[in-house]
Amino acid sequence: MRRMIRNVHDAALAALMIDDPVAKCAAAAALRHDWIARTLDVLEGGDDARAIAEPGRPSRPQLVAPQALSSRHIGSREGHAALLHAIAHIEFNAINLALDCVHRFRSMPAAFHRDWIHVAAEEASHFELVQARLHALGHGYGDFSAHNGLWDMACRTADDVLSRMALVPRVLEARGLDATPMIVAKLRRIGDDESVAVLDVILRDEVGHVAIGDYWFRDCCARRGLDAEAVYLELMERFNAPWPQAPLHREARLAAGFSAAELDRLARGRR
Ligand SMILES: [Fe+2]
Ligand SMILES: [Fe+2]
Repeated sequence: MRRMIRNVHDAALAALMIDDPVAKCAAAAALRHDWIARTLDVLEGGDDARAIAEPGRPSRPQLVAPQALSSRHIGSREGHAALLHAIAHIEFNAINLALDCVHRFRSMPAAFHRDWIHVAAEEASHFELVQARLHALGHGYGDFSAHNGLWDMACRTADDVLSRMALVPRVLEARGLDATPMIVAKLRRIGDDESVAVLDVILRDEVGHVAIGDYWFRDCCARRGLDAEAVYLELMERFNAPWPQAPLHREARLAAGFSAAELDRLARGRR
């Protein structure tokens, strides 16, 4: 018999701990369905600051240091698949990252949970779209090694929603906005129009995810009486977060809530 889940935080945690990608995607979609159907409660209470070191994920891909990753030279079939695999891995982690926000940041309003449930379901659909492209190339998720940088940042920001919003959506997901046009150009060059179409969908949705992170980051800063744009730079220093790689996707970042002044600052480099 299916266990009854009464609140949105436990439901998100249950989905977060699922290892199997197909089942996790289904759970993320079901969570959005149940939220819309109003069958889940939002609890009032404090945040759960304990990091989850081992979220649900399949036994493969093998996690390795970033330097040990397979070559992604797109000219070869293996390199083409490795590039799509890297994107699938990002999307898989992004499902867990969004679910983790719903699970732990219980002091946040219902609208915060609504937003991150929506993100989790979109990330699940991104994962499915990219995995279908991998299958078309004769591969699947787990066939290449991957690194754990995204989840590491989740663990490092588990105790503070303001830091999480700054460093995950507003740093890591925003870097995805910058990287996408270059990846699209590579895929177009080798004639993989199906993957280009998938990345067009992902880029459109990811602007929305960064915008959600931006909204809640600025909201947290306002409630704590902090200058959001100054705090952002301080957090990037404190966490030694990766600086955006040029060229910035200015149009996408502006649409997601970055100010022109911030983009000018980021374009100048770390110092
Ligand atoms: Fe995504
Ligand atoms: Fe995303």
